[in-house]
Amino acid sequence: MLSTPRARAAPRAARATPGAGRRGEGSRRIGRARAVSEPKPASEIDWNAIGFGLTPTSHMFVATCDLGGTWSAGEVVPFGNLSLSPAAAVLNYGQGVFEGMKAFRTKDDELLVFRPDENAARCEEGSLRMSMPPVPRDLFQQAVMKTISANADYVPPVGLGSLYLRPLLIGTGAILGLGPAPSYTFLVYCSPVASYFKGGQLTPIDLTVEETYHRAAPGGSGSTKCIGNYSPVLKVQLEAKRQGFSDVMYLDARENKYIEEVSSCNFFCVKGNTISTPALQGSILPGITRKSICEMAAARGFKVEERNVSIEEVMDADECFCTGTAVVVAPVGSITYKGKKAQFCDGKTGPVTQAMYDELTGIQQGRIPDERGWNVKVPKDFHL
Ligand code: COI
Repeated sequence: MLSTPRARAAPRAARATPGAGRRGEGSRRIGRARAVSEPKPASEIDWNAIGFGLTPTSHMFVATCDLGGTWSAGEVVPFGNLSLSPAAAVLNYGQGVFEGMKAFRTKDDELLVFRPDENAARCEEGSLRMSMPPVPRDLFQQAVMKTISANADYVPPVGLGSLYLRPLLIGTGAILGLGPAPSYTFLVYCSPVASYFKGGQLTPIDLTVEETYHRAAPGGSGSTKCIGNYSPVLKVQLEAKRQGFSDVMYLDARENKYIEEVSSCNFFCVKGNTISTPALQGSILPGITRKSICEMAAARGFKVEERNVSIEEVMDADECFCTGTAVVVAPVGSITYKGKKAQFCDGKTGPVTQAMYDELTGIQQGRIPDERGWNVKVPKDFHL
Protein backbone atom coordinates (compact mmCIF):
# COMPACT_ATOMS: atom_id res chain seq x y z
CA MET A 1 0.00 0.00 0.00
CA LEU A 2 1.53 3.27 -1.03
CA SER A 3 0.42 6.83 -1.20
CA THR A 4 2.34 9.56 -2.94
CA PRO A 5 1.85 13.28 -2.46
CA ARG A 6 -0.66 13.29 -5.32
CA ALA A 7 -2.50 10.15 -4.15
CA ARG A 8 -3.75 11.72 -0.94
CA ALA A 9 -6.87 9.55 -0.62
CA ALA A 10 -4.91 6.59 0.76
CA PRO A 11 -6.75 4.51 3.38
CA ARG A 12 -6.06 5.21 7.07
CA ALA A 13 -3.94 2.08 7.52
CA ALA A 14 -1.51 3.32 4.91
CA ARG A 15 -0.86 6.42 7.00
CA ALA A 16 -0.16 4.58 10.24
CA THR A 17 3.51 5.58 10.27
CA PRO A 18 3.77 8.99 11.92
CA GLY A 19 4.64 11.65 9.43
CA ALA A 20 4.70 9.37 6.41
CA GLY A 21 3.27 10.54 3.11
CA ARG A 22 2.62 14.12 4.23
CA ARG A 23 4.41 17.10 2.79
CA GLY A 24 5.96 19.52 5.22
CA GLU A 25 6.95 16.88 7.77
CA GLY A 26 10.32 16.21 6.27
CA SER A 27 12.31 17.19 9.34
CA ARG A 28 10.76 14.53 11.59
CA ARG A 29 13.55 12.41 13.11
CA ILE A 30 13.39 8.62 12.99
CA GLY A 31 16.18 7.20 15.15
CA ARG A 32 19.34 9.07 14.18
CA ALA A 33 18.29 9.64 10.58
CA ARG A 34 16.69 12.87 9.49
CA ALA A 35 13.89 12.41 6.97
CA VAL A 36 14.25 14.18 3.61
CA SER A 37 13.71 17.89 3.53
CA GLU A 38 11.43 19.79 1.20
CA PRO A 39 12.88 20.48 -2.25
CA LYS A 40 14.10 23.99 -2.79
CA PRO A 41 14.00 25.76 -6.14
CA ALA A 42 16.96 24.93 -8.36
CA SER A 43 17.76 28.64 -8.53
CA GLU A 44 18.65 28.54 -4.80
CA ILE A 45 21.18 25.72 -5.10
CA ASP A 46 24.85 26.61 -4.66
CA TRP A 47 26.26 24.40 -7.44
CA ASN A 48 29.80 24.78 -6.11
CA ALA A 49 28.81 23.36 -2.73
CA ILE A 50 27.08 20.10 -3.72
CA GLY A 51 28.80 16.83 -2.93
CA PHE A 52 27.11 13.45 -2.98
CA GLY A 53 24.36 14.27 -0.49
CA LEU A 54 20.64 14.30 -1.23
CA THR A 55 19.37 17.60 -2.60
CA PRO A 56 15.67 16.88 -3.17
CA THR A 57 14.26 18.02 -6.51
CA SER A 58 10.73 19.02 -7.44
CA HIS A 59 9.47 15.78 -9.03
CA MET A 60 9.73 12.02 -9.07
CA PHE A 61 8.16 9.25 -11.15
CA VAL A 62 5.90 6.55 -9.67
CA ALA A 63 4.34 3.43 -11.23
CA THR A 64 2.70 0.49 -9.50
CA CYS A 65 2.19 -3.19 -10.21
CA ASP A 66 -0.81 -5.08 -8.91
CA LEU A 67 -1.39 -8.72 -7.99
CA GLY A 68 -1.86 -9.70 -11.63
CA GLY A 69 1.63 -8.46 -12.47
CA THR A 70 0.47 -5.59 -14.69
CA TRP A 71 2.41 -2.33 -14.45
CA SER A 72 0.54 0.99 -14.49
CA ALA A 73 1.73 3.59 -16.99
CA GLY A 74 3.06 5.63 -14.09
CA GLU A 75 3.21 9.39 -13.69
CA VAL A 76 5.41 12.25 -12.66
CA VAL A 77 4.35 13.51 -9.22
CA PRO A 78 5.73 16.08 -6.77
CA PHE A 79 8.68 14.72 -4.80
CA GLY A 80 7.64 13.62 -1.33
CA ASN A 81 7.65 10.91 1.29
CA LEU A 82 6.07 7.52 0.78
CA SER A 83 3.51 5.91 3.03
CA LEU A 84 3.78 2.15 3.48
CA SER A 85 2.17 -0.61 5.48
CA PRO A 86 4.49 -1.67 8.32
CA ALA A 87 4.16 -5.13 6.76
CA ALA A 88 5.47 -4.02 3.35
CA ALA A 89 7.79 -6.69 1.97
CA VAL A 90 10.59 -4.21 1.41
CA LEU A 91 10.58 -3.17 5.08
CA ASN A 92 10.46 -6.68 6.48
CA TYR A 93 12.31 -8.80 3.96
CA GLY A 94 14.29 -6.25 1.94
CA GLN A 95 12.56 -7.13 -1.32
CA GLY A 96 13.88 -4.39 -3.56
CA VAL A 97 16.47 -3.42 -6.17
CA PHE A 98 17.80 -0.05 -7.23
CA GLU A 99 19.85 1.52 -9.98
CA GLY A 100 22.19 4.51 -10.15
CA MET A 101 22.33 6.62 -13.31
CA LYS A 102 23.50 10.07 -14.33
CA ALA A 103 22.27 12.85 -16.62
CA PHE A 104 24.50 15.72 -17.74
CA ARG A 105 24.11 19.19 -19.17
CA THR A 106 26.27 19.90 -22.22
CA LYS A 107 27.85 23.23 -23.14
CA ASP A 108 25.01 23.64 -25.69
CA ASP A 109 22.49 23.21 -22.86
CA GLU A 110 21.33 19.78 -24.02
CA LEU A 111 20.54 17.05 -21.48
CA LEU A 112 22.15 13.62 -21.93
CA VAL A 113 21.63 10.41 -19.98
CA PHE A 114 24.32 7.72 -20.04
CA ARG A 115 23.47 4.17 -21.19
CA PRO A 116 19.89 3.92 -19.82
CA ASP A 117 19.34 0.67 -21.75
CA GLU A 118 22.03 -0.98 -19.64
CA ASN A 119 20.35 0.05 -16.38
CA ALA A 120 16.96 -1.12 -17.66
CA ALA A 121 18.46 -4.53 -18.46
CA ARG A 122 20.27 -4.82 -15.12
CA CYS A 123 17.13 -3.82 -13.22
CA GLU A 124 15.21 -6.53 -15.07
CA GLU A 125 17.81 -9.15 -14.18
CA GLY A 126 17.87 -8.04 -10.56
CA SER A 127 14.10 -8.06 -10.22
CA LEU A 128 13.96 -11.68 -11.42
CA ARG A 129 16.61 -12.65 -8.85
CA MET A 130 14.47 -10.99 -6.15
CA SER A 131 11.19 -12.53 -7.42
CA MET A 132 9.70 -9.20 -8.42
CA PRO A 133 7.78 -8.45 -11.63
CA PRO A 134 10.32 -6.79 -13.96
CA VAL A 135 9.62 -3.21 -14.96
CA PRO A 136 9.22 -3.34 -18.76
CA ARG A 137 12.39 -1.85 -20.26
CA ASP A 138 10.38 0.72 -22.20
CA LEU A 139 8.63 1.87 -19.04
CA PHE A 140 11.97 2.03 -17.21
CA GLN A 141 13.56 4.22 -19.88
CA GLN A 142 10.51 6.46 -20.25
CA ALA A 143 10.38 6.91 -16.48
CA VAL A 144 14.02 7.94 -16.38
CA MET A 145 13.59 10.37 -19.29
CA LYS A 146 10.47 11.88 -17.73
CA THR A 147 12.20 12.30 -14.36
CA ILE A 148 15.14 14.10 -15.96
CA SER A 149 12.86 16.28 -18.05
CA ALA A 150 10.60 17.19 -15.10
CA ASN A 151 13.69 18.12 -13.07
CA ALA A 152 15.64 19.74 -15.91
CA ASP A 153 16.46 22.83 -13.84
CA TYR A 154 18.21 20.61 -11.29
CA VAL A 155 20.77 19.25 -13.77
CA PRO A 156 23.91 21.15 -12.65
CA PRO A 157 25.58 23.64 -14.99
CA VAL A 158 28.15 22.12 -17.32
CA GLY A 159 31.23 20.96 -15.44
CA LEU A 160 29.70 21.31 -11.96
CA GLY A 161 28.25 17.82 -11.56
CA SER A 162 25.35 15.73 -12.79
CA LEU A 163 21.80 14.76 -11.96
CA TYR A 164 22.01 11.40 -10.19
CA LEU A 165 18.94 9.23 -10.77
CA ARG A 166 17.82 6.53 -8.43
CA PRO A 167 15.33 4.09 -10.00
CA LEU A 168 13.93 1.96 -7.18
CA LEU A 169 11.75 -1.15 -7.44
CA ILE A 170 10.30 -2.29 -4.12
CA GLY A 171 7.78 -4.75 -2.75
CA THR A 172 5.24 -2.38 -1.21
CA GLY A 173 2.41 -4.85 -0.66
CA ALA A 174 1.90 -6.15 2.91
CA ILE A 175 2.94 -9.73 3.66
CA LEU A 176 3.70 -11.46 6.95
CA GLY A 177 4.85 -14.97 6.00
CA LEU A 178 7.98 -15.13 3.87
CA GLY A 179 7.02 -14.79 0.23
CA PRO A 180 6.95 -12.28 -2.61
CA ALA A 181 4.92 -9.10 -2.01
CA PRO A 182 1.41 -8.92 -3.48
CA SER A 183 2.15 -5.52 -5.08
CA TYR A 184 5.13 -3.40 -6.13
CA THR A 185 6.14 0.19 -6.70
CA PHE A 186 8.68 1.48 -9.17
CA LEU A 187 9.86 5.01 -8.65
CA VAL A 188 12.61 7.24 -9.91
CA TYR A 189 13.85 10.13 -7.81
CA CYS A 190 16.93 12.21 -8.38
CA SER A 191 19.42 14.63 -6.87
CA PRO A 192 22.07 16.92 -8.28
CA VAL A 193 25.49 15.57 -7.24
CA ALA A 194 29.18 16.27 -7.59
CA SER A 195 32.17 14.30 -6.27
CA TYR A 196 31.43 11.08 -4.34
CA PHE A 197 34.61 11.05 -2.28
CA LYS A 198 35.80 13.98 -0.19
CA GLY A 199 38.44 16.17 -1.76
CA GLY A 200 37.05 16.29 -5.29
CA GLN A 201 36.71 14.05 -8.29
CA LEU A 202 40.33 13.11 -8.99
CA THR A 203 41.67 13.18 -5.43
CA PRO A 204 43.29 9.77 -4.82
CA ILE A 205 41.55 7.58 -2.25
CA ASP A 206 43.13 5.44 0.46
CA LEU A 207 41.70 1.94 0.73
CA THR A 208 42.01 -0.74 3.38
CA VAL A 209 41.52 -4.44 2.67
CA GLU A 210 38.93 -6.20 4.83
CA GLU A 211 39.99 -9.67 5.97
CA THR A 212 37.14 -10.73 8.29
CA TYR A 213 33.90 -9.68 6.66
CA HIS A 214 32.84 -10.47 3.12
CA ARG A 215 30.50 -8.52 0.93
CA ALA A 216 29.03 -11.51 -0.89
CA ALA A 217 29.42 -15.26 -1.22
CA PRO A 218 29.27 -17.67 -4.18
CA GLY A 219 25.63 -18.32 -5.03
CA GLY A 220 24.47 -15.28 -3.07
CA SER A 221 23.08 -12.00 -4.34
CA GLY A 222 26.33 -10.04 -4.72
CA SER A 223 25.78 -9.42 -8.43
CA THR A 224 22.30 -8.01 -7.84
CA LYS A 225 21.89 -4.35 -6.99
CA CYS A 226 19.51 -5.32 -4.23
CA ILE A 227 18.84 -3.12 -1.24
CA GLY A 228 20.20 -5.63 1.27
CA ASN A 229 23.65 -5.81 -0.31
CA TYR A 230 24.69 -2.42 0.95
CA SER A 231 23.91 -2.09 4.65
CA PRO A 232 26.17 -5.01 5.70
CA VAL A 233 29.20 -3.04 4.48
CA LEU A 234 28.44 -0.07 6.71
CA LYS A 235 29.95 -1.57 9.86
CA VAL A 236 33.29 -2.17 8.16
CA GLN A 237 33.17 1.09 6.22
CA LEU A 238 32.51 3.19 9.34
CA GLU A 239 35.44 1.62 11.16
CA ALA A 240 37.71 2.16 8.14
CA LYS A 241 36.68 5.82 7.94
CA ARG A 242 37.30 6.19 11.66
CA GLN A 243 40.86 5.01 10.96
CA GLY A 244 41.27 7.60 8.22
CA PHE A 245 40.68 5.44 5.14
CA SER A 246 38.41 6.54 2.30
CA ASP A 247 36.79 3.12 1.84
CA VAL A 248 37.15 -0.67 2.02
CA MET A 249 38.18 -3.37 -0.46
CA TYR A 250 36.58 -6.78 -0.10
CA LEU A 251 38.14 -10.17 -0.80
CA ASP A 252 36.40 -13.31 -2.05
CA ALA A 253 34.57 -15.36 0.57
CA ARG A 254 36.07 -18.71 -0.51
CA GLU A 255 39.81 -18.05 -0.36
CA ASN A 256 40.07 -14.56 1.14
CA LYS A 257 42.62 -13.86 -1.55
CA TYR A 258 41.04 -12.34 -4.66
CA ILE A 259 39.67 -8.83 -4.99
CA GLU A 260 35.89 -8.55 -5.24
CA GLU A 261 35.03 -4.87 -5.16
CA VAL A 262 35.04 -1.74 -3.02
CA SER A 263 31.91 -0.88 -0.94
CA SER A 264 30.34 1.25 -3.65
CA CYS A 265 32.36 0.58 -6.81
CA ASN A 266 34.31 -1.85 -9.00
CA PHE A 267 38.09 -2.13 -9.00
CA PHE A 268 40.82 -2.07 -11.70
CA CYS A 269 44.61 -2.38 -11.55
CA VAL A 270 47.20 -1.58 -14.19
CA LYS A 271 50.53 -3.32 -14.78
CA GLY A 272 52.41 -2.31 -17.92
CA ASN A 273 49.97 -2.47 -20.81
CA THR A 274 47.51 -4.76 -19.00
CA ILE A 275 44.42 -3.55 -17.19
CA SER A 276 42.84 -6.18 -14.94
CA THR A 277 39.54 -6.25 -13.13
CA PRO A 278 37.78 -9.01 -11.13
CA ALA A 279 35.67 -11.22 -13.40
CA LEU A 280 31.89 -11.23 -13.05
CA GLN A 281 31.35 -14.57 -11.33
CA GLY A 282 28.12 -13.82 -9.51
CA SER A 283 29.42 -12.10 -6.39
CA ILE A 284 30.32 -8.65 -7.70
CA LEU A 285 28.19 -5.99 -9.27
CA PRO A 286 28.20 -5.87 -13.09
CA GLY A 287 28.96 -2.15 -13.20
CA ILE A 288 27.99 -0.19 -16.28
CA THR A 289 30.95 2.14 -15.79
CA ARG A 290 33.12 -0.99 -15.40
CA LYS A 291 31.82 -2.34 -18.70
CA SER A 292 32.37 1.04 -20.41
CA ILE A 293 35.96 1.26 -19.10
CA CYS A 294 36.74 -2.26 -20.36
CA GLU A 295 35.53 -1.26 -23.84
CA MET A 296 37.36 2.08 -23.83
CA ALA A 297 40.63 0.54 -22.58
CA ALA A 298 40.56 -2.23 -25.18
CA ALA A 299 39.94 0.35 -27.93
CA ARG A 300 43.03 2.24 -26.73
CA GLY A 301 45.15 -0.90 -27.19
CA PHE A 302 45.36 -2.05 -23.58
CA LYS A 303 45.13 -5.77 -22.86
CA VAL A 304 41.99 -5.98 -20.72
CA GLU A 305 41.74 -9.01 -18.45
CA GLU A 306 38.60 -9.96 -16.51
CA ARG A 307 39.81 -12.68 -14.16
CA ASN A 308 40.71 -13.52 -10.58
CA VAL A 309 42.91 -10.65 -9.38
CA SER A 310 44.84 -11.48 -6.19
CA ILE A 311 45.50 -8.91 -3.50
CA GLU A 312 49.22 -9.81 -3.70
CA GLU A 313 49.47 -8.73 -7.34
CA VAL A 314 47.42 -5.61 -6.69
CA MET A 315 49.91 -4.51 -4.03
CA ASP A 316 52.54 -4.65 -6.80
CA ALA A 317 50.48 -2.84 -9.49
CA ASP A 318 51.63 0.33 -11.27
CA GLU A 319 48.29 2.02 -10.80
CA CYS A 320 44.81 1.26 -9.46
CA PHE A 321 41.42 2.90 -9.83
CA CYS A 322 37.78 2.37 -8.93
CA THR A 323 34.74 2.84 -11.14
CA GLY A 324 31.04 3.33 -10.59
CA THR A 325 28.18 5.61 -11.54
CA ALA A 326 28.48 7.56 -8.30
CA VAL A 327 32.26 7.29 -8.04
CA VAL A 328 32.97 7.81 -11.81
CA VAL A 329 36.71 6.93 -12.09
CA ALA A 330 38.50 7.37 -8.78
CA PRO A 331 42.31 7.08 -8.51
CA VAL A 332 43.59 4.87 -5.69
CA GLY A 333 46.44 6.56 -3.83
CA SER A 334 47.16 3.67 -1.47
CA ILE A 335 46.00 0.23 -0.34
CA THR A 336 46.70 -1.08 3.15
CA TYR A 337 46.72 -4.87 3.61
CA LYS A 338 47.96 -6.81 6.63
CA GLY A 339 49.57 -3.67 8.02
CA LYS A 340 51.52 -3.00 4.78
CA LYS A 341 50.72 0.08 2.72
CA ALA A 342 51.26 0.12 -1.05
CA GLN A 343 51.34 3.57 -2.57
CA PHE A 344 50.59 4.08 -6.25
CA CYS A 345 51.95 6.85 -8.51
CA ASP A 346 53.38 8.65 -5.44
CA GLY A 347 49.81 9.05 -4.19
CA LYS A 348 48.87 11.02 -7.33
CA THR A 349 46.42 10.28 -10.14
CA GLY A 350 48.09 7.84 -12.56
CA PRO A 351 48.17 8.42 -16.34
CA VAL A 352 45.83 5.52 -17.22
CA THR A 353 43.31 6.58 -14.58
CA GLN A 354 43.45 10.15 -15.87
CA ALA A 355 42.96 9.02 -19.48
CA MET A 356 39.98 6.81 -18.56
CA TYR A 357 38.42 9.59 -16.51
CA ASP A 358 38.90 12.16 -19.27
CA GLU A 359 37.41 9.93 -21.95
CA LEU A 360 34.44 8.76 -19.91
CA THR A 361 33.46 12.19 -18.61
CA GLY A 362 34.16 13.72 -22.02
CA ILE A 363 31.63 11.37 -23.62
CA GLN A 364 29.10 11.78 -20.81
CA GLN A 365 29.24 15.58 -20.97
CA GLY A 366 29.11 15.66 -24.78
CA ARG A 367 32.62 17.14 -25.05
CA ILE A 368 34.01 14.33 -27.20
CA PRO A 369 32.23 12.28 -29.89
CA ASP A 370 30.03 9.51 -28.54
CA GLU A 371 31.04 6.98 -31.19
CA ARG A 372 29.40 4.03 -29.42
CA GLY A 373 26.02 5.72 -29.06
CA TRP A 374 26.03 5.54 -25.27
CA ASN A 375 24.24 8.84 -24.63
CA VAL A 376 20.52 9.41 -25.03
CA LYS A 377 19.33 12.98 -25.50
CA VAL A 378 16.48 14.04 -23.20
CA PRO A 379 14.06 16.67 -24.56
CA LYS A 380 13.30 19.18 -21.80
CA ASP A 381 9.55 18.87 -22.41
CA PHE A 382 9.57 15.06 -22.44
CA HIS A 383 7.40 14.75 -19.33
CA LEU A 384 4.59 16.99 -20.59
C1 COI B 1 26.11 3.97 -7.82
O1 COI B 1 27.30 4.07 -8.11
O2 COI B 1 25.25 4.47 -8.56
C2 COI B 1 25.66 3.26 -6.63
O3 COI B 1 24.52 2.90 -6.58
C3 COI B 1 26.57 3.04 -5.50
C4 COI B 1 25.98 3.58 -4.23
C5 COI B 1 26.51 2.86 -3.07
C6 COI B 1 26.21 5.06 -4.11
